[in-house]
Amino acid sequence: MDRSPRGQYLTTVRANVPLCREHFRLTLLVEDFPVSEPGQFIQIACVGPDDNGPVDHVIEWSPGERPILEGAELSAAMTMLRRPFSLAGRRETIAGTELDIIGRDVGLGTRWMSQLAPGDVVNIIGPLGNAFELPPKDGIALMVGGGVGIPPMIYLAEKLAQFGRKGVAFCGATTLDLLSLTINDASMSLRSSDVATTPQLNVVEFAAHGIPAIITTDDGSYGAKGYVTGALEQYLDASLPDGTGRAGAVIYTCGPELMMKRVAQIALSRSIACQICVERAMACGMGTCQSCCIKVKKDDPQLPPLAGKDWCYRLACTDGPVFAAEKLLW
Ligand SMILES: Cc1cc2nc3c(=O)[nH]c(=O)nc-3n(C[C@H](O)[C@H](O)[C@H](O)COP(=O)(O)OP(=O)(O)OC[C@H]3O[C@@H](n4cnc5c(N)ncnc54)[C@H](O)[C@@H]3O)c2cc1C
Ligand code: FES
Repeated sequence: MDRSPRGQYLTTVRANVPLCREHFRLTLLVEDFPVSEPGQFIQIACVGPDDNGPVDHVIEWSPGERPILEGAELSAAMTMLRRPFSLAGRRETIAGTELDIIGRDVGLGTRWMSQLAPGDVVNIIGPLGNAFELPPKDGIALMVGGGVGIPPMIYLAEKLAQFGRKGVAFCGATTLDLLSLTINDASMSLRSSDVATTPQLNVVEFAAHGIPAIITTDDGSYGAKGYVTGALEQYLDASLPDGTGRAGAVIYTCGPELMMKRVAQIALSRSIACQICVERAMACGMGTCQSCCIKVKKDDPQLPPLAGKDWCYRLACTDGPVFAAEKLLW
């Protein structure tokens, strides 16, 4: 894709809705946000613009002297670094662009985000990273999201509908209470033996784009019991057993690395194209700090970097976060 320009924006919270025990959907309003695509992410400063935090915190320092770090920056728990979040959706409104983020409260920054209220101001940088490529015209997108890997799939579903592409979503959670989606059971028409292989229009976020979904929970508290990768395999073997159907299929995945590795194996062993959105821990999100490197295969071992080797490191934040499955050396 052509990289859209990125920038720093002050946004206003439009809504912040709890989705389950630990997840929330935050909607931010921003004027004139650049073009963005599914797979891209933003970096959020998890501190208010008027707080004494990373956005405006100044450390006294003179050239040749050591900085004096005795204040809150060392003694208090602070979110000095921005936190990365995948775009989960985007709408154009008269007031500006609305961006959806689905977060899970796991620490200081996400706790701060979960407590934001309409009208609060949030500083973001974006859109960052590369994006998913849509399947061919007659193909089908098989979207496999686990936990906080589900949000970019919702944005992808939006794009698939816009370009008239077919899709099926496979969403995994450890338990129903940690599933960050809205379920409409009235639209279910399944016997329990069918739940792993028959996609249903019962997940509001995907059904809104005409995309059916299969839900799995590790403990069986909703949908098919087991891992989402098991449901993907069962679906592929039942619905796309071989040949023509698989040729236009593309598997998209985001979530825990173990899950994505298994998805990659499933795809590669069946010769299905697979795009993986990695969520490596990131500091800057813009290619400066080198904290997010990931090992990949090189097309030509003779070319730099690391001439003579058939692998090199790439940055998840700028070369990714989306990589072709066959390129990744996990
Ligand atoms: C490109 C990208 C997209 C992401 N999209 C989403 C999203 O849509 N929704 C969402 O909820 N989260 C997403 N994440 C993860 C999110 O950035 C982290 O959960 C967040 O930074 C935690 O911040 P915190 O201050 O709340 O927690 P911290 O106090 O910083 O950390 C809490 C715990 O989470 C762990 N942690 C932090 N970052 C990660 C990570 N990247 N992977 C695994 N463990 C981590 C820490 O090691 C620690 O154990 C994404 C990450 C990346 C790199
Ligand atoms: S997060 Fe800094 S280089 Fe990728």
